[in-house]
Amino acid sequence: MQKIVVEGGIPLHGEVRISGAKNAVLPILCATLLADEPVEISNVPHLHDVVTTAKLLGGLGAGITIDQGTIGSGGESAIVVDPRSVSSHVAPYELVKTMRASVLVLGPLLARYGDAEVSLPGGCAIGSRPVDQHIKGLQALGAEISVDHGFIKARAKRLRGAHHVFEMVSVGATENVLMAAALAEGTTVLENAAMEPEIADLAECLNAMGARISGAGTPRIVVEGVPRLHGCRHAVIADRIETGTFLVAAAMTGGRVTARRTRPDTLEAVLEKLREAGATVTVEDDRITLDMHGRRPRAVDITTRPHPGFPTDMQAQFMAMNCIAEGVGVINETIFENRFMHVNELLRLGADIRVEGHTAVVRGVERLGGAPVMATDLRASASLVLAGLVAEGETVVDRIYHLDRGYEHIEEKLGGLGARIRRIG
Ligand code: EPZ
Repeated sequence: MQKIVVEGGIPLHGEVRISGAKNAVLPILCATLLADEPVEISNVPHLHDVVTTAKLLGGLGAGITIDQGTIGSGGESAIVVDPRSVSSHVAPYELVKTMRASVLVLGPLLARYGDAEVSLPGGCAIGSRPVDQHIKGLQALGAEISVDHGFIKARAKRLRGAHHVFEMVSVGATENVLMAAALAEGTTVLENAAMEPEIADLAECLNAMGARISGAGTPRIVVEGVPRLHGCRHAVIADRIETGTFLVAAAMTGGRVTARRTRPDTLEAVLEKLREAGATVTVEDDRITLDMHGRRPRAVDITTRPHPGFPTDMQAQFMAMNCIAEGVGVINETIFENRFMHVNELLRLGADIRVEGHTAVVRGVERLGGAPVMATDLRASASLVLAGLVAEGETVVDRIYHLDRGYEHIEEKLGGLGARIRRIG
């Protein structure tokens, strides 16, 4: 099993190119199933979850062409999905269990073919992660859905537009129902929809395919159903969580880093917290520069919220920063029920963290000490690498397959900023 070895104590300096967003490219790949022509998606990050989704689409019979691009061109790659050869409407357990986002083929298959069978995604390290909101939203469009023997079975002659209010804000449920509504007969109004920038990017791609969606990125989305969707070319939006992760790395090490090819308007809550921690953050077009002037960050209080609030996917990274900050930072995780798996590993590095339910009280210490630690989920593993960047001596992060699911070439990118980091095993 591969590990990452990090040597602490080096301030990061330089520029890093941000990749396409994992949480945009996954639903967009699933949306290609709605078209009756090939769809070309560019700015695709090299991630394990992208490979898994490509396998899932291939397993349904879609044609997949991956243009790896050349690392010299910044590693940008493109995928062409040809949905015309789709012959199966079943997403198997073997794939769904490795990546919950596979459930996002449910809406497109149902809308395009009138039937779909998707293995019920299991929970994962950060929580039980039910899909009841996905099912209720599709039922509102007229789908007949049963769940048995671990499968979600959906049928619908033709989906009909409806007015649906989500009981709770859910990114995946908003995406699944939005994709289905694109081909439903009549108008759909979705209320209490998630507002994440990845949903606006999905809607932009769907509209390029001929859909008629307005309001994506706001709590109220209106969809005029159309009879078919054609092919298109779409470049995936920059990854706001990868951006935030590198900016936190700069803040923790007291360095100066510029993230380029990013979208500053998609992570304003994160930039505000970095300024509160004492960083100078400047924004210029698609570039964000964070300068910590060699100073130790100040502790900040965090409460995770749906977008545009502070993103839960940045919680673990800010906890790592609070571990070495001046003062005490209180972190409330309101989105997932078990997203403090990184705490026990940070304690092994000498952090002072007390967890009470969904709240973690982090008392900053002068210095962490390097040690072997274990990744448990994607963002937790990122927080352990960040902690290793400041811990005295060497930190060895095990089970980094979690990291590879969501960060493209992270050791090359951090190494390019001066970090002493290498992959072994
Ligand atoms: C998406 O997950 C992201 N994944 C997550 O990123 C992200 O943390 C999350 O949104 C919140 O922003 C992708 O986009 C692939 P939700 P999703 O539905 O759609 C509950 C990462 O690290 N819920 O908004 O699964 C759920 O249990 C990953 O990149 C229901 O109860 O998140 C959770 O507590 C992790 N019923 C809350 O809602 C449902 O039907 C928010 O979940 C759906 C969700």
